[in-house]
Amino acid sequence: MEKDQTLTIQDNRTKVTYTVPLDHGAIRAMDLRQMKTGPDDFGVMSYDPAFLNTASCRSAITFIDGDRGILRYRGYPVEVLAEKCSFLEVGYLLLWGELPTPSQMREWVDLVTHHTMIHENIKKFMDGFHHDAHPMGMLISTVAALSTFYSEARSVLDPEVRKLQILRLIGKMPTLAAHAYRHSLGLPYVYPDNELSYTENFMNMLWKKTEPKYVANTTLARALDVLFILHADHEQNCSANVMRSVGSSQADPFVTTAAAAAALSGPLHGGANEEVLRMLDEIGSKDNVPAYIKKIKEGHGRLMGFGHRVYKNYDPRARIIKKAAEEVFEVTGRNPKLDIALEVERIALSDDYFIKHKLYPNVDFYSGIIYQAMGFTPDMFTVMFAIPRTVGWLAQWQEMLQDPEQKIARPRQCYTGYGAREFVPLEQRVTQAKAA
Ligand code: SDX
Repeated sequence: MEKDQTLTIQDNRTKVTYTVPLDHGAIRAMDLRQMKTGPDDFGVMSYDPAFLNTASCRSAITFIDGDRGILRYRGYPVEVLAEKCSFLEVGYLLLWGELPTPSQMREWVDLVTHHTMIHENIKKFMDGFHHDAHPMGMLISTVAALSTFYSEARSVLDPEVRKLQILRLIGKMPTLAAHAYRHSLGLPYVYPDNELSYTENFMNMLWKKTEPKYVANTTLARALDVLFILHADHEQNCSANVMRSVGSSQADPFVTTAAAAAALSGPLHGGANEEVLRMLDEIGSKDNVPAYIKKIKEGHGRLMGFGHRVYKNYDPRARIIKKAAEEVFEVTGRNPKLDIALEVERIALSDDYFIKHKLYPNVDFYSGIIYQAMGFTPDMFTVMFAIPRTVGWLAQWQEMLQDPEQKIARPRQCYTGYGAREFVPLEQRVTQAKAA
């Protein structure tokens, strides 16, 4: 590591030279404010729309090396965790920083399991939605509604209160998601079964019919565990940024999680997995792939499930999901959409446009194909993303609240509008020339 971790910046307007320290490869934006042309000058700001090159926080939760396609949770490669752990075990790691001991794991699973029930009034809320309401809209609304049941949740600076809400959210997300799914099918809601694992119970609440006790297919339950691990966190993605920003006002974690889920629902973010299936349906067959890719290269739309702000290499999660697909298909039968997806990947990865733009399959490219094979309709795919990502959002939220440097998020702006101008009374306003 070089000794002198500083930058020397000359302000050519004043010929004054400044030396600013570097920390983790970044300068503090506030160190720019000293660079003024005079006493009335506000000082220099940094301008970075969409935060392409701005660190909003210090975090120890998730590490991504986008060029090398590396993803680690608290230092452990996601490939190892997906192979060796359960989702709740990884959830514990993300939230509390270490893998649990056997006794810690038993207590953690027991606590989450006993927070899967929801207040009966939530069902009335759920029943109020139209029969074809999008499950993501139902989930976002009902998560926010949970805040009306737990008024103590606003005490976000109390670690014990925080932990109880964290348990409630992790425990109840699958229940709310399953209720939304059952509502869309006109089926009665299924109560949680505390004798089942986290993913088996989710399957129970989704798919139990009239049998006295639901028995989950263990291959599918394990595949869901792996998918949940892969979707659990991804450092400062769009929805995590929302979780931190909304949480910074000390709003309660229920409305904050609802805000993050709203961000996730966008087609450029977690909503992409649903768009991938629509895209594969539109392509229709392997033979139509070249023409579709040509259309994308001509600027007509995006290849959904491809590209990433950070990964400029293959998303390691997509590689694992692709492998998990084969195990699921042994149970469910092969989803023919996989053949179209594989052809899209084959052609895109050898095409100059995608190579030049460093566009590779991301986490959303293959996940929907598995979910569809399991029986989920595309409008449930982003719900399947939100359930595990709740753990990551809560880990980011808690780290933000515990960071002594963090305060309410309030960015600056570069003002480009009018200067002060005289008011013109209504009767004197003639049709204006188009505003500048
Ligand atoms: C997730 O941030 C995270 O970590 C997110 C996530 C997580 O776990 O939280 O990983 C989950 O959201 C994965 C991404 C899912 N979204 C999609 O699959 C939608 C399709 N992908 C894109 O829209 C895009 O790649 C983004 C949104 C993912 C990233 O966009 P950026 O970084 O803002 O890049 P950009 O839109 O500025 O594109 C840069 C160039 C453009 O070309 P030029 O105008 O420079 O010539 O690359 C092109 C874009 O047109 N491009 C694509 C493309 N993605 C980018 N062209 C065709 N198809 C695509 N998918």
